[in-house]
Amino acid sequence: MNEAAGWIDLTGKVAHVTGGARGIGAGIARALAMAGAKVMVSDLKLEDAAAVAEAIGGEAMALDVTDRQAVDAAMAATRDRLGALDILVNNAGVYLGFGGPVRDISDEMWRTLWSVNVDGVFYCSRAAAGIMIEQGRGGRIINVSSTQAVSPGVGVTYDGSKAAVTQITKALALELAQHGINVNALAPGPTWVGEGEPPKTGGQPPNRTGDPLADTIADRIARLPVGHWADPMEQGKAVVFLASSMSDFVTGIYLPVDGGWLTL
Ligand SMILES: NC(=O)c1ccc[n+]([C@@H]2O[C@H](COP(=O)([O-])OP(=O)(O)OC[C@H]3O[C@@H](n4cnc5c(N)ncnc54)[C@H](O)[C@@H]3O)[C@@H](O)[C@H]2O)c1
Repeated sequence: MNEAAGWIDLTGKVAHVTGGARGIGAGIARALAMAGAKVMVSDLKLEDAAAVAEAIGGEAMALDVTDRQAVDAAMAATRDRLGALDILVNNAGVYLGFGGPVRDISDEMWRTLWSVNVDGVFYCSRAAAGIMIEQGRGGRIINVSSTQAVSPGVGVTYDGSKAAVTQITKALALELAQHGINVNALAPGPTWVGEGEPPKTGGQPPNRTGDPLADTIADRIARLPVGHWADPMEQGKAVVFLASSMSDFVTGIYLPVDGGWLTL
């Protein structure tokens, strides 16, 4: 092994990935395990989380990130079952669709989405930071934001929540630097979480809706410079960078992994 390869080696580190049962979270869990970390995969769906954990030699637990007591217990259980907690990836998130014009968005939709995308990030970060500070060996918190945080277009509920995640990341980075805990945000662009290969882009958007805002997004996906949607592992590789000593001097950043989306 060359010397630089050791910089991404996560052997001896313990990671917790929320919402890891499928999609981007499963890709992140897999990438962290490939780099040597022991991974706790949590999700609302325990069976699916367990299948991911089994495939990567990790462990699984049921967790709803909106339940603050369950979150406290889950972070402590990760430390107790795997021996430490070094890396938290706040991946669990929901989109729930565009929701229509702002005057039609229900309180329920707003609260449901913000409770997962924002409250969940806060609860998990608070619990994990407490454990990392107690351990006294630094740590990493990686929050999954989105390109929509800085380039809105899928509705006020989701776009706003991801902007909040980005600013929470920066505030935590400032506060936790004194404890050797780096806090960064990952901003995925269009990432294929369906069956089969990520679709190619280019040409006419296939899914025009007639809604000008929705079609702007479809047009941008069609023009994505790299020519295809991301695979979840492409997000996972960026998380390995943010979790490893490759990024020792990196904190408080917003890292787009977007195939050029934000350059459009
Ligand atoms: N897929 C994309 O193109 C894309 C782009 C930008 C950002 N993101 C973000 O990436 C993250 C993962 O997205 P994805 O596309 O893989 O989603 P997904 O819907 O495929 O998977 C999300 C996972 O989170 C779990 N989950 C939902 N609510 C939860 C809760 N309350 N507690 C615990 N787990 C919960 C679900 O059960 C599911 O397994 C989200 O934060 C999303 O906003 C996705």
